[in-house]
Amino acid sequence: MRRRRMLSMVGKVAFVTGAGSVGAGWGNGKATAVLLARQGASVFGVDVNDEALTATEQAFHDERLAQWRGLRCDVTDSVSVQHAVDECMARYGRIDILVNNVGGSAPGDPTTMTEDTWRAQIDLNLTSVFLSCKHVLPIMTRQFEAHGRGGAVVNVSSIGCMTFQVDGRVSSAYAASKAGVLAFSRSTAIAYVKKGVRVNTVIPGVMHTPLVEHRLTSQLGMGNAEELIARRHASVPIGKMGDAWDVAHAILFLASDEAGYITATELVVDGGITAARPTF
Ligand SMILES: NC(=O)c1ccc[n+]([C@@H]2O[C@H](COP(=O)([O-])OP(=O)(O)OC[C@H]3O[C@@H](n4cnc5c(N)ncnc54)[C@H](O)[C@@H]3O)[C@@H](O)[C@H]2O)c1
Repeated sequence: MRRRRMLSMVGKVAFVTGAGSVGAGWGNGKATAVLLARQGASVFGVDVNDEALTATEQAFHDERLAQWRGLRCDVTDSVSVQHAVDECMARYGRIDILVNNVGGSAPGDPTTMTEDTWRAQIDLNLTSVFLSCKHVLPIMTRQFEAHGRGGAVVNVSSIGCMTFQVDGRVSSAYAASKAGVLAFSRSTAIAYVKKGVRVNTVIPGVMHTPLVEHRLTSQLGMGNAEELIARRHASVPIGKMGDAWDVAHAILFLASDEAGYITATELVVDGGITAARPTF
């Protein structure tokens, strides 16, 4: 008897948000898109940045992975998300996996942050997850009713909602919106538990993605990427930051049939940070 390959995505279609990367190298969404395709999935990747999409397309090309379609989409805008979902359906005819990866942090507490920044953070990190679920869940439900195969949603949160001083700064809106992702995921999972859809969350810790060099070095006022990277490595009990592939593998697992009994929960990918610094 021929054994089925583990974590196979053959015959599945994945819709991945933030499928680009903010700089050269591997962001979480870009690595996830490529890893799902390596496992056999057809990938529909959306990103607000055309250049980032082109870089992901190039990564598919370099690995001779054929099944890629990228589209510019702002996931904070319902019309834009609906259009992207329609395009994905026109191209592939189904959606089995939804990865809500878009997100980013802005520093500040209630007095140091503007109201506009607060609202933009909630939109980027939480409303974006609501919108893509709003447009994709009915498709997964219809698939389940038609032939018993619904889908899996994997949302990306952050340990920034479990330990409240990361990189020496407080980011109240990021913490609140990423905590919202956990509650949203669990409640949506229960709403869809009998409709063939699983919903889970990956919680990355301090990861070495291009974001570190591209944005954090200047945001944290150090101007010295090497120093920041050394400090981030030293802050992790396991001895080093994780990378985008660590996040991508966790997403792959939760999206896979092997995780078929897992829903309404989280997978923390943080090298031990939250256990060493428990907050609640
Ligand atoms: N890098 C880390 O250390 C870390 C840690 C914890 C959690 N995370 C989370 O992982 C996710 C990805 O992080 P990353 O470091 O790979 O970031 P990244 O900035 O490299 O990638 C995010 C992508 O999302 C795109 N994007 C931004 N706004 C968008 C919008 N409105 N619509 C569509 N696309 C949009 C960007 O253009 C970019 O290509 C985020 O949710 C982040 O909060 C990252």
